[in-house]
Amino acid sequence: MSATDASRSELLQRTATLERENAELKDKLDQVERDRIEYLQNVSHQLVAPLNAMKWHIENLTEARVSVDRARKVLRSIYSQATIAVHLAKNFNLMSNLEADQALTRLKEPLREVELRRLLVNLADDFQPLAWDQEIKIVVEKDRFDDHPPVLAMKPLISQVFSNIIENAVKYANHGTMIVIEGKYSGASGSFLVSIRNRGIDLPTEHEQDVFNRGFRSSEAKRKYPAGTGFGLYIARRIVEIHEGTVTAHTQDTWTVFEVNLSVEGLKGKARFRAV
Ligand SMILES: Nc1ncnc2c1ncn2[C@@H]1O[C@H](COP(=O)(O)OP(=O)(O)O)[C@@H](O)[C@H]1O
Ligand SMILES: [Mg+2]
Repeated sequence: MSATDASRSELLQRTATLERENAELKDKLDQVERDRIEYLQNVSHQLVAPLNAMKWHIENLTEARVSVDRARKVLRSIYSQATIAVHLAKNFNLMSNLEADQALTRLKEPLREVELRRLLVNLADDFQPLAWDQEIKIVVEKDRFDDHPPVLAMKPLISQVFSNIIENAVKYANHGTMIVIEGKYSGASGSFLVSIRNRGIDLPTEHEQDVFNRGFRSSEAKRKYPAGTGFGLYIARRIVEIHEGTVTAHTQDTWTVFEVNLSVEGLKGKARFRAV
């Protein structure tokens, strides 16, 4: 084989490799585009559902003869649906921030001193009307929040962590059960542990980590509650990691337990955070 033949065959080989790589890249891009479209459809579908429910309830209220009791019940349902819609919109906003900027470094949310007990009581109040639809009671064990110093955190983000876990507890708990929220401060480690537990669909041991992966939904979760994205716990984990804390899930007796551990002052003075 002459030198020109050799370099021509090498060239042909390289062209073939490049063409193959090009085709693979195109496949990946097509997949990303399909995922994006599916995601947007999911977003709009999920937002339309509570908005339609609200419209339907309001229409009920405009009927000529509505008893006070009935009106109160309908208003409670409207409140529940509004909670779902606001919660979804916040998650979608956070999700697109996370997609664009993995560490949320561009999110200039100041650190604040957050009183977790008060935050959790407010969230429990927010989700209670939704839970009543399933006769589920949300209990914040206030005296199990030993006196604790406030936790330095990005408040709206930390609030979303707990609301995602509480929302799941409401969605996946059995009818007529209780959701229990507790907190414990450890002076020795300077950290605060919040646990949220419920009784409902199984959380198999082999899925204890998977539930925090982007898009994961167990088949039991899909059966019990078909609408869902599998983003809630992924967002929660990412936010907790940015706060240098941990979030875990396990089963204890018949309870599904989610635990969030946050350092009280761990973020103090860290360069990326701007204290108020
Ligand atoms: N309280 C819970 N009990 C049992 N399984 C849960 C609970 N919370 C979450 N999971 C599991 O983790 C999965 C991921 O939750 P999440 O990210 O919030 O997505 P989604 O609620 O949209 O399914 C759920 O689909 C379910 O399989
Ligand atoms: Mg969820």
